[in-house]
Amino acid sequence: MKSSCVFLSILFSLTAFQVNAQEKDQVNQLVIITNHPGPVISKDIYGHFSEHLGNCIYGGLWVGTDSKIPNTNGIRNDVLFALREIKVPNLRWPGGCFADTYHWKDGIGPKEKRASIINTNWGGVTEDNSFGTHEFMKLTELLGCDAYINGNVGSGSVREMSDWVEYLTSDAVSPMTKLRKENGRDEPWKVKYFAIGNENWGCGGNMTAEFYASTMKQYSTFLGDYSGNQLYRVACGPSDYNFAWTETLMKDAGTRQMFQGLSIHYYSVVDGWDFKGSATKFTEREWFETMRLNLEMDKIIKGHSAIMDRYDPQKSKGLVVDEWGNWFNVEPGTNPGFLFQQNSMRDAITAAIHLNVFNQHADRVKAANLAQMVNVLQSVILTKDDKIVLTPTYHVFRMFRVHQEARLLNLDLRCEDYVFGDKKIPAISASASVDKDGKVHISLANLNPNKQITVTCPLIGDSFKKITGEILTADEMNSYNSFENPENVKPVIFNRFTLKDGILRIIMPSKSVVVLELTK
Ligand code: AHR
Repeated sequence: MKSSCVFLSILFSLTAFQVNAQEKDQVNQLVIITNHPGPVISKDIYGHFSEHLGNCIYGGLWVGTDSKIPNTNGIRNDVLFALREIKVPNLRWPGGCFADTYHWKDGIGPKEKRASIINTNWGGVTEDNSFGTHEFMKLTELLGCDAYINGNVGSGSVREMSDWVEYLTSDAVSPMTKLRKENGRDEPWKVKYFAIGNENWGCGGNMTAEFYASTMKQYSTFLGDYSGNQLYRVACGPSDYNFAWTETLMKDAGTRQMFQGLSIHYYSVVDGWDFKGSATKFTEREWFETMRLNLEMDKIIKGHSAIMDRYDPQKSKGLVVDEWGNWFNVEPGTNPGFLFQQNSMRDAITAAIHLNVFNQHADRVKAANLAQMVNVLQSVILTKDDKIVLTPTYHVFRMFRVHQEARLLNLDLRCEDYVFGDKKIPAISASASVDKDGKVHISLANLNPNKQITVTCPLIGDSFKKITGEILTADEMNSYNSFENPENVKPVIFNRFTLKDGILRIIMPSKSVVVLELTK
């Protein structure tokens, strides 16, 4: 391993030297080793999150079977169709903070008998539980994705959580499987991910790390693997830079099979929680600050991974970044508890930065979930009655889907800075992978909103015959898709590149996201 690292570093320096001798603009160089594939990029890094919050579920995904909006089993068809295009690999539900208030039995059985409850976290609105376990599992089936269910630790019980898993996944004879059958579902479902609470250091019960670690072990002990289903149990991890929480959990439970994944949450919040700024009316300072905060994701992952490495050097446990994205002020005139925000070219760059970072950490990051799927925070889709808008973030997810289950390629990026005031960040974000057919995909973002950048890219290892590309960019930093102008920001074919003597030169317009496909 060590010698191959040495080999690669020699290769990098040699390549840099050769390219230096040949090319003039040396500042932006991306060396890619195409024939030494690394770890598989889990498709689950491209996951999504649907909470009972505002109009994510109700109106966004679910309109009910009696709706005039065309639907399949109550799920709106336009949204389903769009989501299938981005190959959603897994969907997290029912929260978020809502999860630790959710009692799953409220959401099963005949609709007219389901309890109406108060959604205490999100606007105090009535939750009629018309969307529950069966509806969610149908949604995952229609999307062709895995279920990621978040259990209730904060206000639930061990028995309640254990029963839910049995109800969902067992085909044995038991009160829970009998109940499921009475509710119209004979066969058990498969559930891939199951989280043991959400943000239990906060809305999930305000627990200390020590208390949560003990509680989590107790809950985990009673979450069965039934009928061939193998749960990937996700323990509640910290947010941001709370490395002490990770340390406690790994020390207390990290070496036993109590959990397979540890969640982390990180939102980019410009200027603090009191005034997060507008999603569409912002200055270059806010643009820069957003990018700077987005790039912190790399440091956060490195920090938590380093702790995990000490207890789990084999990397058998995954980091699950099950909430991430930009969090801005709600759109004026909308319910502050509904977290509805527009989505601009800035969010597209944010998505590209995060997905590149997750790809780069494919050895440890095994799943991630954008917050959230529809109508909440950095959504991929916005809906208004029967209309939908695909956001710039949506387009990035569609462009980047080529990385799902591909193998990460080693790269060395040396690029200029994007300077604003007395601060600077790297101007380019990148990652690359090779898929099962041998096609190489390179995804790049130019974070500078004012400057075109040419990236020189020596390809070491293979020769390529054909290259195609797609680009997402816009006239303004804050260009967005509205219900009136839904195609203002959309990807187009990209051909501003050349390949000569194994060196690819890519001309990246300011504020752009590019994905290239290289065929041998
Ligand atoms: O995504 C919105 C909220 O942010 C989630 O409910 C919670 O987990 C986080 O604090």
